[in-house]
Amino acid sequence: MSVNTPVLYTPQVESFEDDEHKTVSELNETFDVILTKTAEDYGHAVRSVHAKAHGILEGTMAVRSGLPLELSQGLFAKPGTYKVFMRISTNAGDILPDAISLPRGLAIKVTDVPGARLPDAAGTTQDFVMVNGPVFQAKTSKKFLGSLKMLAKTTDRMEGTKEVLSDVLQSVNTALEAVGVSSPTVQSLGGAPDSDPLGETYYSVTPFRYGDYIAKFSIRPVSRELTELTGKEIDTKDQPDAIRDTVQAEMQHLTGEWEFCVQLCRDLKKQPIEDPTTQWDETDAPFVAVATIRAEPQDSWSEANVLKVDEQMRFSVWTGLAAHEPLGNINRARKATYEHSAKFRERFNRCPIHEPSS
Ligand code: HEM
Repeated sequence: MSVNTPVLYTPQVESFEDDEHKTVSELNETFDVILTKTAEDYGHAVRSVHAKAHGILEGTMAVRSGLPLELSQGLFAKPGTYKVFMRISTNAGDILPDAISLPRGLAIKVTDVPGARLPDAAGTTQDFVMVNGPVFQAKTSKKFLGSLKMLAKTTDRMEGTKEVLSDVLQSVNTALEAVGVSSPTVQSLGGAPDSDPLGETYYSVTPFRYGDYIAKFSIRPVSRELTELTGKEIDTKDQPDAIRDTVQAEMQHLTGEWEFCVQLCRDLKKQPIEDPTTQWDETDAPFVAVATIRAEPQDSWSEANVLKVDEQMRFSVWTGLAAHEPLGNINRARKATYEHSAKFRERFNRCPIHEPSS
């Protein structure tokens, strides 16, 4: 089936609200409640969301040769192989037992990337920050602020309640999926199935500039060793860190291969910039592979890499090339908030955060 030609990027594809700065200040105030509470509890500062990591991986990203012009853009303009770091997480701001099943995150940092940088982007890295679902639960940062305020109230005090809630929501989700409906709201509240993160497909959810064009991104498992894990449930009973332990045992012997895919925007109405709650239909805008990510067998929870990546790095969609500028209201709200959370960690832990280079 033929698809439309991709839409050209111009600054006019974004539309700004007047009070975005105010929302960002309120987001940071709310994140401070979570950051302070968890830092007091643990005696150590953790990320204000996606606090718990399940695995840290080192690998490579090989950009394909022979890509058509519309796909050879930004980082993907020329074939080449880059060293990458990956951090697998779940989305709560507190470190919860894995029986509370939550959506998964995958952050990836590509090192030594040449090209003009985004404003304030340190180093020479390109970050991609993804979750294991194609849509975000909030259309705007103001809406997200509403749920964050609720979350801040439950940080640390409601562990038991969240566990019960997760059980209930998991059954609701299974019931919905049985009739072909996957509910992002249920998933974002903690009703996601406790599946192996190594078998999941991850999505940027929000759009980015893709050189001359506009795109969303995804990372999907392709090696058989990974696809065999797709949908595999992890037994979390009485094992607070079951996901981390499972990933560690699996990564001792398997080689992970993922495809990095690009979904070009081909119609601004059907693939909107300012609404990450709308999935871009893959029939109208297919995902196409532009690079392969590879991770050889390794210790996914080595002390050295946990220190290097979990503690001394931060991942942000605003760390990267101007050619991959984050677009839309939600992405704009992420610049100052990710900086704020990382600065808190840096200050509290007295541990400098920096961009790596190979
Ligand atoms: C207004 C919207 C959003 C806000 C305010 C927000 C805020 C944050 C903050 C403050 C952090 C912690 C940063 C750090 O301490 O290093 C974070 C991490 C993260 N966020 Fe968001 N976020 C938003 C939207 C999203 C979206 C749309 C996604 C989906 C891809 C996402 C996925 C993640 C992931 C996976 C991490 C963990 C990154 C890591 O491993 O270091 N966030 N977010």
